[in-house]
Amino acid sequence: MLPSKLHALFCLCTCLALVYPFDWQDLNPVAHIKSEAWVSKMQALMAAVSIGQTKIPRGNGSYSVGCTDLMFNYTNKGTFLRLYYPSQDDGHSDTLWIPNKEYFLGLSKFLGTHWLVGKIMNLLFGSITIPAAWNAPLRTGEKYPLIIFSHGLGAFRTIYSAIGIDLASHGFIVAAIEHRDGSASSTYYFKDQSAVETGSKSWLYLRTLKRGEEEFPLRNEQVRQRANECSQALSLILDIAHGRPVTNVLDLEFDVEQLKDSIDRDKIAVIGHSFGGATVIQTLSEDQRFRCGIALDAWMLPMGDEVYSRIPQPLFFINSERFQYPSNIIGMKKCFLPDRERKMITIKGAVHQNFVDFTFVTSKMIGYLFTLKGHVDSNVAISLSNKASLAFLQKHLGLQKDFNQWDSLVEGEDDNLIPGTNIDTTNHEATLQNSTGIERPNLD
Ligand SMILES: *[C@@H]1O[C@H](CO)[C@@H](O)[C@H](O)[C@H]1NC(C)=O
Ligand SMILES: *[C@@H]1O[C@H](CO)[C@@H](O)[C@H](O)[C@H]1NC(C)=O
Ligand SMILES: *[C@@H]1O[C@H](CO)[C@@H](O)[C@H](O)[C@H]1NC(C)=O
Repeated sequence: MLPSKLHALFCLCTCLALVYPFDWQDLNPVAHIKSEAWVSKMQALMAAVSIGQTKIPRGNGSYSVGCTDLMFNYTNKGTFLRLYYPSQDDGHSDTLWIPNKEYFLGLSKFLGTHWLVGKIMNLLFGSITIPAAWNAPLRTGEKYPLIIFSHGLGAFRTIYSAIGIDLASHGFIVAAIEHRDGSASSTYYFKDQSAVETGSKSWLYLRTLKRGEEEFPLRNEQVRQRANECSQALSLILDIAHGRPVTNVLDLEFDVEQLKDSIDRDKIAVIGHSFGGATVIQTLSEDQRFRCGIALDAWMLPMGDEVYSRIPQPLFFINSERFQYPSNIIGMKKCFLPDRERKMITIKGAVHQNFVDFTFVTSKMIGYLFTLKGHVDSNVAISLSNKASLAFLQKHLGLQKDFNQWDSLVEGEDDNLIPGTNIDTTNHEATLQNSTGIERPNLD
């Protein structure tokens, strides 16, 4: 069992452990920069990436997928999101995956590495595209269910495209939010209208814990802000769908008016990864417009104890085998109350990064070395997670599709799945009940 501080660091480090082969046993990546070893590591990484690179997968559904970014309004109190949607097929080019170099600089800060590492990542990954047509027109004539998606700590709106694209290809509109609570590696806004006109972005980088700062108060404040951002994004999209004229600050070719009458207002769900999984739970407890939620490898430390009893909606936990640990699972189990619809499955051999696009853009060896990949094939892992999600969404949003063919996955019935969890919490729970020990603050 790891002490709580290590859990936190572990979450931080695993979120995007891109550059160093560090894990919880190797907690201080900064210590490694001293030598020139990182230079040769980067060279090895560059070589490996260019040889063994694979692709972010296409969606498996029957709809073509389009992608655009929407910012409203320009302040950091506004909404910023990437939208994946069923599109018309008309030859628009693919979408740039990570569209600004500042995101790579933010990642290097998150990883505790030199900013040069960010520059190198920009060279490696800066021109990668995803299989979604940039600004393609919306496929009209149908009302789509809507998913609000919340990213993890040190992530940002664009790096969950394997999930966003697959859901859109199955007929969902997916709004992947970029949070402005200081948990994104980087994000931007504009100071005023003239900054919008000249395109001069104000960048907001990851807020790290100060030395000696307690983690829970910060994370709890952040998760509340994140939930507000999810609700605000939902309100904005519903307003647009209702016909309210909205000007996208980013002034892109995609005309947001196409979204008028395109959303099925009764079929709204929230999905998120890691810190975004905590955001799912917080959001469900605050906003009943969300009919159900899916938490991918949720990180439970940010949750306040009052939340667990306030979630009437169905909730589905999809976990990786290697990320989870007893105090985190105990947090999830607190959501399992009588008469509440709760499901939990674990993907065998999967790591925390199996839900993030980086698992697809690195070669097998490098991905494994840097814990971006697990023992399970990345395509198999994402496919199980996506199909189980679709089955759960069909059931609880009342969709008329064929996603119920994957109902058994929601029960954990597959060679690569474990029903429930791989983590044994019995001893841990006994210890918790008997003491006011160090693990307890983690859960409050
Ligand atoms: C931007 O949106 C936020 C949140 O909706 C609002 O509080 C703020 O007043 C808006 N600012 C401007 C300049 O419109
Ligand atoms: C699509 O399905 C195939 C076969 O089941 C699977 O390998 C692939 O990972 C799936 N893609 C996604 C994005 O789920
Ligand atoms: C906790 O307390 C109970 C009885 O109060 C005892 O039976 C049990 O062994 C204790 N567990 C631990 C882990 O100390």
